[in-house]
Amino acid sequence: MTLVLGLESSCDETAVALVRADRTIVARHVASQDADHRPYGGVVPEIAARAHVEVLSPMVARTLEEAGVGLAEIDAIAATAGPGLIGGVMIGLVTAKALALAASKPLIAVNHLEGHALSPRLVAPDLAFPYLLLLVSGGHCQLLAVEGVGRYRRLATTIDDAAGEAFDKVAKILGLGFPGGPAVERAAAAGNPRAVKLPRPLVGSGEPHFSFAGLKTAVLRASQADAAPVPDLAASFQQAVVDCLADRTRLALEAMPEATALVVAGGVAANGAIRGALQTLADTHGLPFVAPPQWLCTDNAAMIAWAGAERLALGLTDGLDAPARARWPLDPDAAPARGAGVKA
Ligand code: KG4
Ligand code: ZN
Repeated sequence: MTLVLGLESSCDETAVALVRADRTIVARHVASQDADHRPYGGVVPEIAARAHVEVLSPMVARTLEEAGVGLAEIDAIAATAGPGLIGGVMIGLVTAKALALAASKPLIAVNHLEGHALSPRLVAPDLAFPYLLLLVSGGHCQLLAVEGVGRYRRLATTIDDAAGEAFDKVAKILGLGFPGGPAVERAAAAGNPRAVKLPRPLVGSGEPHFSFAGLKTAVLRASQADAAPVPDLAASFQQAVVDCLADRTRLALEAMPEATALVVAGGVAANGAIRGALQTLADTHGLPFVAPPQWLCTDNAAMIAWAGAERLALGLTDGLDAPARARWPLDPDAAPARGAGVKA
């Protein structure tokens, strides 16, 4: 049975996993750098890269040892080759190249977004193409028609901030700490989602995209002006994000009648209110709703190893000259969204 080693280092998690083509997760490890970045209220690329260097190679050794397998027994080595913070991406990719060269194994340069996009198939064997994927993380907010391995059609993206970025910035404004998403969700649990009036950018517009920058600014203004309690601000902000995500996803579902399921992935998919709204939306459309377990939604290497296994099965391997890419859109043919700060 095909066995793939996966490496992930594109942001602030160092991760290694061994996954079989029959979906067995043989071993997996994640080291979070939250404590390193907390004093700065966000991810510092230089600190992230240094931490990956220290942690990655010992983690590979530990993962193999734990699984009781040698490099010779692995069929391919997959690593995130982008998009992400370039220092971290280079460390993971070069480590994978060295292992591939030393063990004479094929290298698979995985797009991190493809890792997220295919991750639900690791835990939901019946999930068939095409499905609609809402990918919501700290760096991305996209709706993708996942039509097959390597076949992605971007239906919507953010014209400014990603959803997770908005959660992190609002947490900073409200003094809730880092990482912001879980902190905002915890604070929101004790608040009234209708207490503070906030905008729902682009909701109701025919344009398919997302926008969160104005919402974040509105929270800043409200926090300065009204002295509203933090839980009410957090709950009202979270509700506004939920409404934006649900409205845009509904629009995409209507544009993709062939979808077999509604799927959510990325770190923000850990949010209970967001999951609840998407479940309701899927029910309304008579579709199954697939949300991978939380550990598989946030950055991890099992999704990279799995994307590697899916690619390997199709003979899609890469040369040792595969580039590390800070930007790497999943759908290079997507029409550019309006706005200055367009994300990949
Ligand atoms: O996918 P991920 O681990 O890393 C990226 O590739 O960005 O996502 C991290 C993002 C952060 O912005 C974090 O604040 C957000 O996911 N997040 C959440 C929650 N848990 C993590 N956002 C809202 N609610 C949560 N419970
Ligand atoms: Zn991610």
